[in-house]
Amino acid sequence: MSYASLYQRSLTDPEGFWRERAEEIPWLEFPRSVLEQDGNGAWRWFRGGKTNTCWLALDRHVEAGRGEQTALIYDSPVTGTVTRHSYAQLRDRAARVAGGLKALGVGKGDRVVIYMPMVPEAVIAMLACARIGAVHSVVFGGFAAPELASRIDDAAPKVILSASCGIEVTTVIPYKPLLDEAVRLARHPVAHCVVLQRPQCEAALVPGRDLDWAGWEAAAAPAQWTPLDALDPLYILYTSGTTGKPKGVVRDTGGHAVALHWTMQAIYGVAAGDVFWAASDVGWVVGHSYIVYGPLLRGCTTVLFEGKPVRTPDAGAFWRVIQDHRVNCFFTAPTAFRAIKKEDPDCRLKQGYELSSLRYQFVAGERLDPPTYQWLRQHLGVPVIDHWWQTETGWSICANLAGVELMETKPGSPTVPAPGYDLRILDEGGCELGPGEQGAIVIKAPLPPGAFTTIWRDHERYVDAYWSRYPGFYLTGDGGHRDVDGYVYVMGRIDDVINVAGHRLSTGQLEEVVASHPAVAECAVVGVQDADKGEVPFGLVVLKDGVNLGEAALQAELVQLVRTQVGPFANFKQALLVARLPKTRSGKILRQALRQLLDGETPNIPSTIDDPAIIGEIEARLR
Ligand code: COA
Ligand code: AMP
Repeated sequence: MSYASLYQRSLTDPEGFWRERAEEIPWLEFPRSVLEQDGNGAWRWFRGGKTNTCWLALDRHVEAGRGEQTALIYDSPVTGTVTRHSYAQLRDRAARVAGGLKALGVGKGDRVVIYMPMVPEAVIAMLACARIGAVHSVVFGGFAAPELASRIDDAAPKVILSASCGIEVTTVIPYKPLLDEAVRLARHPVAHCVVLQRPQCEAALVPGRDLDWAGWEAAAAPAQWTPLDALDPLYILYTSGTTGKPKGVVRDTGGHAVALHWTMQAIYGVAAGDVFWAASDVGWVVGHSYIVYGPLLRGCTTVLFEGKPVRTPDAGAFWRVIQDHRVNCFFTAPTAFRAIKKEDPDCRLKQGYELSSLRYQFVAGERLDPPTYQWLRQHLGVPVIDHWWQTETGWSICANLAGVELMETKPGSPTVPAPGYDLRILDEGGCELGPGEQGAIVIKAPLPPGAFTTIWRDHERYVDAYWSRYPGFYLTGDGGHRDVDGYVYVMGRIDDVINVAGHRLSTGQLEEVVASHPAVAECAVVGVQDADKGEVPFGLVVLKDGVNLGEAALQAELVQLVRTQVGPFANFKQALLVARLPKTRSGKILRQALRQLLDGETPNIPSTIDDPAIIGEIEARLR
């Protein structure tokens, strides 16, 4: 079937289309209905279906005779380790860890926070939660204690699963002090923390609260999987919105399994037994969908890489992993290739490796800038596929469907909407725009299976943030246009979200932290273009009257503050002292104009500006 007919079918007969996709996986009980609205008015897929994601990802492959196949390859240049788990071994460990959780009183619907580096136990922890219907919330290991604390308070977990440390190239990052501080800061009391002791840095355990992972797992009785409803939540994943408070994106069980299973074949063109590698982190949605669930649901071998594109040990790390594990499909963020390109512009290191297994190169997480796209095209010799998606959707909104029909690619475009996404470009007033016209990218309801169904304990925010701007349409928060062939171009966020090296951050959140410095009267944080990271945050700061602090000293303090309050991955390194901030007469900071000024563009100054002279003052400071 061609892309065009598949796409049309998904819009004209969504129920028929997704029923067939649901029939492609086994169920304990097949859903009674394919699509309906719940009491909140949210669209829900596969009501009445009974399943279990851990069973679908592990047990049923073992039952079908694939028990000896490798499910998970852990490749860790930072520890000099490569280990493998077969499907049977991964099932057995997930069952034991699930039993360990049960022994700590965790049951269906209880939350478990997972704050771990890229080790097999992080994957096992997620699957163990899924096995007993506990709702996991993985927090990226780069987050500082206050961010972890705010997620603990929102998710209210019974147990936290963690590790003694992470390893960033050669630097050991002790996690336990961050975990202890987060538990101290959180209002929600955490009964137990289970800590994986890594030899690089053993952590002191708090008697009565903390348990040593190895002993805990060894002593646990394996737990059987629990039958769950398709609508039961599988996980919460926090992501940045326009305010400092992160949003807990809730993913359900049945729709997620159906969608991810299908995307592995239709989008990534892989089958059971193929090797799939997403070089991301389990703390991000890419890690959830395509390190853990997607590949395992399809019966693939997935690679978990604890390293970087460069420095572990060099810019040939990706090529080495593709060769060593015979990777068929590789997925990473453009920023990772920019890092390689900077160190090895002619891609010389690739020549030393045998990469014939590779069929497709996928990228996402930020815009694939045309120079990086051309560099990949020139050096890789396989289709380079940009695809656009978000934590909220869980899988790609736009892609070139390698498993359906590989279309011509165009630089700067993630190609066309994936089946299930009725994509429109709207102007301010909600009118649909034509080819070449720039506007807000929205999706007509319903979103397809696998997309989020609510914000954890805040359905009002789900409605307000995503569905109220254009009723009946999901607001992606991205702006862009289509060309005459229907190719979509995603040009960037139209809200206060920025994307730093493929990491999503809220400028509002960074502003809250910068503003908390005792010398700061007010501030604005905007994302400015950066050749390596795509975007980086930049602060403009007004000091309180009477404060006598030099720019360099203030900048150093603010950088440190953001590192300890948000995390080092925010890459907050620049702050400029200014006398005043440009505002509208109603007091709104002109962030877009500031961004343009900092990017060296001519700023768009609205007629509502309170005092136009401020723009000139800031320009002078920048010179
Ligand atoms: N734990 C602790 N610290 C972390 C961390 C983690 N998990 N991840 C990053 N950091 C730290 C880094 O060590 C660095 O610290 P430093 O300022 O002391 O040097 C800082 O945060 C900045 O990190 P980053 O901007 O990520 O740079 P990097 O050189 O460490 O890594 C990439 C570069 C490209 C590998 C990385 O940014 C990346 O993987 N990005 C893609 C993200 C992604 O997968 N997005 C999803 C879509 S695919
Ligand atoms: P996250 O929720 O962390 O996955 O970030 C989602 C955001 O990253 C999107 O809203 C986009 O702004 C950006 N993004 C992700 N993939 C792409 C892509 N292929 N092209 C352009 N922007 C992207």
